[in-house]
Amino acid sequence: MGNTFGRLFRVTTFGESHGGGIGVVIDGCPPNIDISDAEIQRELDRRRPGQSKLTTQRKEEDRCEILSGVFEGKTLGTPIAILVRNKDARPKDYLEIARKFRPSHADFTYEAKYGIRNWQGGGRASARETIGRVAAGAVAKKILPAFYSEFEIVAYVAQIHEIIAKINRSTVKMRDVEQNAIRCPDAAAAKKMASLIEQIRGEGDSVGGVIECVARGVPPGLGEPVFDKLEADLAKAMLSLPATKGFEIGSGFTATRMRGSEHNDPFEMRGGKIRTATNNSGGVQGGISNGEEIYFRVAFKPTATIAHEQKTVTTSREQTKLAARGRHDPCVLPRAVPIVEAMAAIVLCDHALRQKAIGLRGRWK
Ligand SMILES: Cc1cc2nc3c(=O)[nH]c(=O)nc-3n(C[C@H](O)[C@H](O)[C@H](O)COP(=O)(O)O)c2cc1C
Repeated sequence: MGNTFGRLFRVTTFGESHGGGIGVVIDGCPPNIDISDAEIQRELDRRRPGQSKLTTQRKEEDRCEILSGVFEGKTLGTPIAILVRNKDARPKDYLEIARKFRPSHADFTYEAKYGIRNWQGGGRASARETIGRVAAGAVAKKILPAFYSEFEIVAYVAQIHEIIAKINRSTVKMRDVEQNAIRCPDAAAAKKMASLIEQIRGEGDSVGGVIECVARGVPPGLGEPVFDKLEADLAKAMLSLPATKGFEIGSGFTATRMRGSEHNDPFEMRGGKIRTATNNSGGVQGGISNGEEIYFRVAFKPTATIAHEQKTVTTSREQTKLAARGRHDPCVLPRAVPIVEAMAAIVLCDHALRQKAIGLRGRWK
């Protein structure tokens, strides 16, 4: 089964798009961490549908209920269960999809694997599943600064289709990201992206792009060679998100066009600490954080469900056509930003707990 993620900070999500609700059970959260409903809700509101005219118009409040594990605003160290009930379900919108497989969605593969699927709203393959991840990420985001006082994580839209933003990765803040509905801190690029998405929606089509994420204030030492290297776990976390197609850390694929003399990050002493002069490594060497910014990029494909008529096949194997109806994101990226941040926080929190467990914390602070 693949519904649980993490070793010491263990996150299990449950629920389908049109069932009773969606949620998460978080096990391994340390006790006495301050956390409020409002802090979890704030993150869920960033992911929620219907935030702007650029996203799906499904109207979900996504109100979270903390069922266990938190008492008087503090974690108890016991499993934290968080539930969000589904409200604005419209199963009728999906009747056609019950019979016809949407090209490049999960309809065919779920049917091939399980022999049964909840076709309403995409069932478990719906991005509503990520509500549980965002709630768990909100908890992880409270634990990490309790361990590392300078910890900070920021994700943002770096590219939509062929529009590439100019962003200073080392200075960008969450408030810069939240200044527009695209979640792109380059205001001029964001404007162009917004009009492209509007145009594409009007044409019944969709577009993808790139989200970049940076984590600052992570000390050296996080990551468990060899199979749970930090970048390996980040890659798994990101590629487990719906609609992702690629992951690169640091220089990523551009490293293939560089020489060692250009690509190496020379060590130097700065402020009494061992630092690197450049950061092509993306803050990870040998699968272990080196104390520099950890940054990576995630590629998202254009949304699968589009109003364009496309060739497909029915559950009874007849060739047919499908022009999808219903409420869909013409571009998933603005809503995916808090989800990328949440998964990164979950990975870092898990590795922070694992590093504490081996007891060498802080040697190279
Ligand atoms: C925030 C977000 C919103 C999404 N919204 C939609 C949507 O409205 N319609 C759709 O077809 N896919 C949407 N997706 C993507 C599908 O869930 C995903 O493409 C599908 O499960 C198939 O999985 P795969 O693309 O990873 O292969 C969304 C993904 C994210 C991250």
